[in-house]
Amino acid sequence: MAKRREQWSSNFGFLMAAAGSAVGLGNIWKFPYVAGHNGGALFLIFYIIILVVIGIPILIAEMSVGRATHLNSIDACKKINPKWAFVGVIGFLASFVIMSYYCVIGGWVLKYIATYIVTDKINNPATFFNEFCSSSIEPIVWLFIFIAITALIVMNGISNGIERISKIFLPLLFLFIIIIAINSLLLPGASKGVKFFFVPDFTDINSAGDVGKIFLSALGQVFFSLSLGMGTLITYGSYLDKNANIPKNAVSIPVLDTLIAILAGLAILPAVFAYDLEPGAGPGLIFQVLPVVFANMPFGRFIAILFFVLVFFAAITSAISLLEVVAAYFIDHKNVSRNAAALGCSAGIFIAAIFVSLSFGALGGFKVLGKNIFDLFTTLTDKILMPIGGFLMCILVGYVWGIPNMLKEISSNGLYKFRYKTAISATLKYIAPALILTIFVVSFL
Ligand code: TRP
Repeated sequence: MAKRREQWSSNFGFLMAAAGSAVGLGNIWKFPYVAGHNGGALFLIFYIIILVVIGIPILIAEMSVGRATHLNSIDACKKINPKWAFVGVIGFLASFVIMSYYCVIGGWVLKYIATYIVTDKINNPATFFNEFCSSSIEPIVWLFIFIAITALIVMNGISNGIERISKIFLPLLFLFIIIIAINSLLLPGASKGVKFFFVPDFTDINSAGDVGKIFLSALGQVFFSLSLGMGTLITYGSYLDKNANIPKNAVSIPVLDTLIAILAGLAILPAVFAYDLEPGAGPGLIFQVLPVVFANMPFGRFIAILFFVLVFFAAITSAISLLEVVAAYFIDHKNVSRNAAALGCSAGIFIAAIFVSLSFGALGGFKVLGKNIFDLFTTLTDKILMPIGGFLMCILVGYVWGIPNMLKEISSNGLYKFRYKTAISATLKYIAPALILTIFVVSFL
């Protein structure tokens, strides 16, 4: 154990890496679509409320556990109480499952970058997309490339790999998405999308149930988007310096994450409305609708390449964090070298991802509980593992570890003053667990 644990080289590096984990397909692909499906502005308002009330306290809790223990998520939970190692195990499993479908979508993104490099437009986007994602070999080749890139970065280690990459990717991402958002906002008819996104419309709200549905979607989206409840932030926090200011980071990360999500909304929704397209198109939104948008834009091909490169950046920095959670366990616990851990875990993920990819085509008819493999995996993580993980994290920190221990860690042993002690205690012990329990129960109704 004499080996000195790696650390982030600077707080900015940590911030970029953690924000890089948060900002991903969840912001760019999922957020606009879920917002589109849930009343736009109302969803945005609920999202921000939940982010502040539940998201930030759990973010603080996870980072504190990581920094206090300096261990991977499983061993961190075990150190707090040996009986609670299973909380880390849930995060470890969920990260593996999320990674197996994240890579598939990441591969699609690579395919679209390649397509726009060789052709100037996609003529029939829906057919193009369906033919591509249902074929057996090509998507697997792309997802392999995506995993290989992720593994290479993780093999380079914390400050060399993850941090350096995120430091470059994230500011670039910001710049690219602003360019595309401006482009979309200048389209004739864009104002309908802006209004939809920012001005609440109560005409579709007929019952408490309608409000509840929007609220629950927003809760799920906050968890996914901030990478909460899976041990990602325990792992990242474990590489954090003892003097780093946890609450300050726990505000910067969600602010960055939400800004990108809102910018993504502004890049996509006005364009969708301007062309009279469907905002709730789901996994196909980016891949089927946007090529229509690009085809009708000046410099469309150029913008398309920028856009998909941007989505790739976002996806890769999130994928790195997912792989790191899985690999860190083997590095710390099994004393495996970083290279071997990253490669071994990637190989396992690749095999699972092959099945996910095939579920869009050859294995589409293979169903468990009426769901194909992709749907099964997303439901397993979004509706089961993430709510359970988040709930248990609250209980672990609120009752098992105890709020006083967390507060000591947050203040870096008295170095920083933290003013919201009662609020965070009430949230972690009562409010957040109660709300998560609600989402969990209602999602099964
Ligand atoms: N937050 C990422 C996104 O928005 C996805 C992600 C990365 C994630 N790590 C995670 C989600 C851990 C849940 C748990 O795309």
